[in-house]
This record gives sequence, structure tokens and C-alpha cells, in this order.
Amino acid sequence: MKVLLLGVTGRVGSRMLPALLAHKHQVVAYVRTPAKISSEATSKLDSIVVGSASDSAAIKAAILSHNCDAVVNAAGLAAMTGLTSQGEFPAIFAAVVQAALEAGRERGSAPIRCWLMSGFSILDSPKKPYLLLDYIPIFPSHKRNYLLIKSHPADILAWSLFCANDISPKYDTPQFPPSADASASNLVAKADAPPAWVEKYRTVPLIGNYLNIMAQAQSYYSVLENCVDFIAADLEKGLESEWIGKRVSVKEKSKVK
Ligand SMILES: NC(=O)c1ccc[n+]([C@@H]2O[C@H](COP(=O)([O-])OP(=O)(O)OC[C@H]3O[C@@H](n4cnc5c(N)ncnc54)[C@H](OP(=O)(O)O)[C@@H]3O)[C@@H](O)[C@H]2O)c1
Repeated sequence: MKVLLLGVTGRVGSRMLPALLAHKHQVVAYVRTPAKISSEATSKLDSIVVGSASDSAAIKAAILSHNCDAVVNAAGLAAMTGLTSQGEFPAIFAAVVQAALEAGRERGSAPIRCWLMSGFSILDSPKKPYLLLDYIPIFPSHKRNYLLIKSHPADILAWSLFCANDISPKYDTPQFPPSADASASNLVAKADAPPAWVEKYRTVPLIGNYLNIMAQAQSYYSVLENCVDFIAADLEKGLESEWIGKRVSVKEKSKVK
């Protein structure tokens, strides 16, 4: 696919680029500071568009003028608590969603395939209808973003939210091509709820759910290079992906008991 990638100068986006290339996608980078892109990365990009990730009209124009079929958003950073300003992240998320939606409509043929970085806290908790965030209220902007995107049917915007807990790179710098051990096959994945969840403290009155979430969240740490391979591999499926319209959670296979 031809992918518009936002956030290529960040931790996630810089590793997303080699993963997308390894899966034979063409990549158009949308950045506000092109000087921050390494010369190696620049040489591998199809094009670079300069603009703000909160400028919906400019993102839409980039999608349409470069004939992109997909958008990957790794721009912006969610604030951990609601006590501080939520910064620009919700505005970036809303701008990307609006841009992809309108570009898909204007293009008329098929919706834009869209992967957006989100967070673990908006996954379903084992006790319906509560989300994990209802027990541990962190990264509140992810919930706001989720409520926004789920109001758009997947047949007009083919979205997926990547809901990792803590993702850290294995290698200090992006690897071109990605290292052979970077692979989606190191992960198990599930839609809307964490995979391989274990109900340990179900019988503890009142605080059982809190204990369980606190105890297990750490085991959902995942390797960034595996996560970006997961997204890049999925984009090969285009609109046939089983993850469209879903919050997607992953766990390292090595952590599955
Ligand atoms: N890291 C994790 O453990 C983790 C876990 C779950 C979810 N996530 C999510 O993944 C996403 C990316 O995280 P990260 O760790 O890669 O963050 P990061 O290293 O801080 O990168 C953020 C990127 O966003 C770009 N950006 C910010 N504001 C922009 C704007 N107005 N216009 C254009 N670009 C803008 C930055 O560009 P500049 O270089 O120009 O500043 C940078 O490329 C975030 O949404 C985060 O919440 C991360």
C-alpha cells in the first residue's frame, strides 16, 4: 500500500518506517521538522510533506495528492494523567481521523485504511462494560480518542487502534532492514481486550479487579520492533484485515504462561 506516516521522527514512527518498507509498502512521511529525519530514512521515503499533524486539511491534501491508501499515525504523545494538560495529542488524533475520513469520501472508491497509536487503558476489562481505564485512570486522552473514532463506521473509515501498554525498542536506532528477530510472530494478538489474560484475584471482594489489572499490566510490555512489524504486516491485507474497527492488543509470546 502507499502509506502516509505521521511521526517518523519519533520513537515509534522511526521504527515504523523500516517495518513498512520491509513489507513492500511505499511511504510518504508527514512531518513538521524534516531536518530531524536521518539521511538514511530520507533516502528510502517516497516523498516528504511538511506540516502540522493537527492540520486536518493539510493531512487530507497529502493523502489525496500522493494517492495514499493508508495512514499510520504515530504523531503526538498521550499525557499520562488527567491532572496535566492533554497537550496537542487529542487535536492530532481528531485531525488525522477527520482527514482520512474526508479523503476516503472524496476519493470515492474505498475507505482509507488507518492504524492509529492508542493505549492499553481503553481495552475492555474482564468485567463488562468497564474499560481497564475505569479501574486505573491513566492516559485519559485515549478514551476520548476511542469514543471519537468508534462513532465512525468501519466502512467509511477502516480504522484500527494499536493498544499497547509499554513498548520499548530492542535496538537503539531504527534498523534498515529490520533485524531478523523483529516479527509479529513473536506476539499474540486479540481484538478489544488483552490476549492471554489470567483471572487471578476474581474471588477477592471489592478490590479483586484492581489487583488483577495491577498485577498483570506489566506483563503486557512489548518490543517495539515486533509491534511495528505487526502493523506493517497487517497493512498488506488492506481492507481484508480482521482488525478493522477494533482496538488491538498484543502480548509477547514469551510472556504467555
Ligand atoms: N512509547 C510507548 O510505550 C507507547 C505505548 C503506547 C502508545 N504509544 C503511543 O505511540 C505514539 C508515539 O509515541 P512515541 O513514543 O513515538 O512518541 P515520540 O517519540 O514523542 O514521537 C512523537 C512524534 O510526534 C511528532 N509530532 C508531535 N506533534 C506534532 C505535530 N504537531 N505535527 C507533526 N508531528 C508532530 C513528533 O515530531 P517532532 O520530532 O517534530 O517533535 C514525533 O515524531 C503516541 O501516541 C503514544 O501515546 C506509545
